This record gives sequence, C-alpha cells and structure tokens, in this order.
Amino acid sequence: MSERLKVSFAAPSLPASGALVVLMGDDLTLPSSVHEMIGKPAADAIARAVAAESFKGKASSGLSILAPPGLQASRLVVVGVGGASERAETDYVGLGGAVLGRVGKSKSVTLLFHEGPAGLRNDAEAAADLALGMTLRAYAFDKYKTKKPDDEAAGEVDVVIAVADPKAAGKAHRAREAIGEGVMLARTLVNEPPNVLDPEEFARRAAQLEKLGVEVEILDEKKLEKIGMRALLAVGQGSRKESRVVVMRWNGAKGGGKEAGKDAGKGAKDGAKPVAFIGKGVCFDSGGISIKPSASMEDMKGDMAGAACVVGLMHALAARKAKVNAIGVIGLVENMPDGNAQRPGDIVRSLSGQTIEIINTDAEGRLVLADVLWYVQDRFKPAFMIDLATLTGAVLVALGQENAGLFSNDDALCEKLSSAAKATKEGVWRLPLSAAYDKIIDSKFADVKNSGGRHAGSITAAQFLKRFVNDTPWAHLDIAGTGMGSPQSETNRGWASGWGVRLLDRLVADHYEG
Ligand code: BES
Ligand code: MN
Ligand code: ZN
Repeated sequence: MSERLKVSFAAPSLPASGALVVLMGDDLTLPSSVHEMIGKPAADAIARAVAAESFKGKASSGLSILAPPGLQASRLVVVGVGGASERAETDYVGLGGAVLGRVGKSKSVTLLFHEGPAGLRNDAEAAADLALGMTLRAYAFDKYKTKKPDDEAAGEVDVVIAVADPKAAGKAHRAREAIGEGVMLARTLVNEPPNVLDPEEFARRAAQLEKLGVEVEILDEKKLEKIGMRALLAVGQGSRKESRVVVMRWNGAKGGGKEAGKDAGKGAKDGAKPVAFIGKGVCFDSGGISIKPSASMEDMKGDMAGAACVVGLMHALAARKAKVNAIGVIGLVENMPDGNAQRPGDIVRSLSGQTIEIINTDAEGRLVLADVLWYVQDRFKPAFMIDLATLTGAVLVALGQENAGLFSNDDALCEKLSSAAKATKEGVWRLPLSAAYDKIIDSKFADVKNSGGRHAGSITAAQFLKRFVNDTPWAHLDIAGTGMGSPQSETNRGWASGWGVRLLDRLVADHYEG
C-alpha cells in the first residue's frame, strides 16, 4: 500500500534505467536544460513521436517512447501540462498522479522537474505536491487478493524528482507524507470488509494513533450507557457487535499542551479552545428493521467513511506535528435487523435530553451523531465542530460525486471550508438550513423524528443534527457521494477516496495553527 512508492528529491541527472519523465506544454517544445540533458537523438525521437501520435501537450495526456535513442532509461515519457494560461491553475497533486499513471510497469521513475514549461511552478512546495499525488495514485487495496498479477509482485517503485533545491523539497515533502498516510489510512478503513472492521476493531485501529502521541480513549457500551448515549446505543442494539465511541486528542498547540482540550475548558481563552471533528462510523448499515434493498448493500461497509476521515485527519495532524489542539470523536456502531433491534415507532431519549421518535431505522447516522455532537460540545467546548457523515442518499441526487453537501450555522466557517476545498480540489457546496425545513422533523409524539420523508432529505437530516449542536459553531459535511464508490481520478484508482483528510488538514493549516 503506502509502501509501494519511495520518493526522493535530487539534483537533475539522467537515470541508468527505468522511466525518464519530462513535462511538455501545448507549444510542444522542451525546456532548454532538459533538451540539453537528454541530447539530440532523444529530443528528435520525441519530435517524431509527437507527430506520429498527434500529441498536443494537453494537460495529463502522455506519450511513451520505449528504448529511447541515446539514453540508458528504458522509456522516455512525455506528460502534457496544457497551455501557458492554464498553468497558473495547475493542480500539482493531480499532475503527480498523472505522471505515475503514464510510466507503465517501470520500477524506477525519474522526473525532470527542475525546469518545466514556462508558467509552471517548480519550487519545493510544487515538487512535494507532485510526490503526494504519486503516493496517492500508487495506493491499492489488495490485501485480500491471494493471486497478484505478475508485474505487481516485485513491489516497490522508486521515484526521483529532479529539483533545484532537493533539501527544501524534502522538507516540504515530510508534511505531505503525513497527509498522504492519513488519506491512505482513511481509504483502508473504508475499504475493509465489515466482518473484519467491526466497531471494536475500528476502535483498535484508532488506538494505533497513540504511537504518534495522540491520546486515545475508548468508551465501551457500559460507559456509553452510563453517560446516556441512548440514541447511539439504540442503533447498535440489533447487532451482535458492541458499539464504541472513540475520543482522540492531539495537543500540538504551542504552550497549550495539556491545558487546551481538557474537559470543560471553562473560561478558557478562545485561542486555547480545541477544534473538533466528529465522524459517523456505521461499520455496516443494513437499514435495520427498515431494511435496505439488497442491490449494492455491500457498499454499506463504507458507511463509516466519516469516522475513517477523522482518524486519517488525526493521523495527518499528529504525524506532521501540527501546532493545534484537535479533538476527533467517532461513533462506531453496526445497524442490523434482529429481535432486539429498534423498531419504527420507538421513542429514545438522547444524551441532550431531547426525545426522538424513530420513523425509519435506516436513518441511523443522525442518531449516532446526535449523541456524539452533544457530548463533544458539552465536554470540550470547542471553537467549532465539523462532522463528516455518509448521511443521505439524497445528497447524491443533489450533488453527485463532485461535491460534499455543506451545512452550517456559521458563515465564517463555511468561507474557510470553501477556500480549503478550492485549494485541495475536495469540493463542498453549501445547502440551506431554515426554520421551515426544521418544522418538517417535528414529531407527533416526541421532540423530534428521525426522518422527514422524501423532500429535501439531506437538508432535513442536517436540521436534525443542528438540534444537537447547542449554538456551537458547526458545519456538517454529507459525504455519501464523495467518500466512497469514487469515480477513478488521477490520484485515486480505488473505491474509497479518503475524502476530507486533505480538506480538513488544509483548513487547520491555514487558520488554526501557529
Ligand atoms: N448510509 C445511508 C446513506 C447512504 C446512501 C450513504 C447511499 C451512501 C450511499 C443512510 O444511513 C441512510 O440510509 N439514509 C437514508 C435516510 C432516509 C431513511 C431518511 C437514505 O438516504 O435513504
Ligand atoms: Mn441508513
Ligand atoms: Zn447509514
């Protein structure tokens, strides 16, 4: 998995074998130093191949020349970077993925990045982004395949990126490595089958973060009962698997150390307040008594993508020693039909004291989040809470897989999330909340009901959550469309995306560190 790729940075030189990669814009000329390095025979071969393939240098298109003349490399790969005007907008992470996708079976790859086509950045940050893109592209979840294709058996790929200042690139790369590991950890959690990754196993994997200095606390059913998380427990009561809540704390702020993130930071200055991330962790969602149709039910192993993102994010923050106090809390349950399962018509008392009428046992994620959100604002008094959840099929109808649904009671937080989304290409699109939508989930028999029916399904789900945040600045990300079943991209060839790790790491880096 992450071990498939080893990236290093070096001064420009030609490799003795493997793939040599150069970048080319739509002017179809090579940067002068690159031309000089590879020599005239290889440059002529590129010109002939460009003509033969009608190569136009379009972004992420490519050209491959085997046994290139005058070079020891076994192949010479040209990757397009588009027109000069596009290059200011270049997504270097995506470009890194595109480069790796073009090198075929090569076990070593050298990219000449010290001088690119005009307008392309080639600084340390851009080089580190390329490396991150390659790392993410190389990820594959194949641990359950006992027969691997021959060409994969040999394992690791060595990548060398030629840059002007290898030391600076290496430094910039270290933070990206932490982020890449976080994304891949999230992907693996989402990809794991539900018989392996049940709530207890998920909690054990989250506890691995202790190695990085994260404080991890696992609340078992007895403890949850005592605290009063009856809405969360009601979801899990039909399963033979026990439910868990995991609290993760990273205290990286300067001086803040032990202070911030402590229970009920009463009177704490705003700067000392921790930031909090909450994840829906339904390890398998059968729908419960309101059972789902069987088509694609296997995808519901991914109904813990929100929780996976929170664990991946905490990994990234801790591994890059982010100067922030961050809390991650995940609610882990399995939603199953059973003689002991909750029924439509049941009324449960949530931790907040509000009573909830169960209309549909398949609207379970909001029950889990209701208790976790209330718990987090009550115990940690955070600066904000952001929850991630594969909450509604309706968000796929509204936004497809291009954007996560964003709901919030705080415009400033939305602005910050939107700019982090632009920077990382993990898109968010804000949808409305209002009193009129809220009314839809008033219950005949209890304070609130867990389903408002077909209309505005993602919004009424968010309105439900809003009743449990108690005026804390809050944003909800509905990632049912973006967290899994991802369309293939330059940086992801698999099913789980690890969506949100890069977005939220960026949010923290841009606004909550230092
Ligand atoms: N986990 C599902 C939502 C989901 C659907 C995630 C498709 C990923 C892909 C959620 O628990 C659910 O079942 N939601 C219901 C809510 C309804 C019963 C009010 C839905 O979306 O149909
Ligand atoms: Mn459901
Ligand atoms: Zn669900």
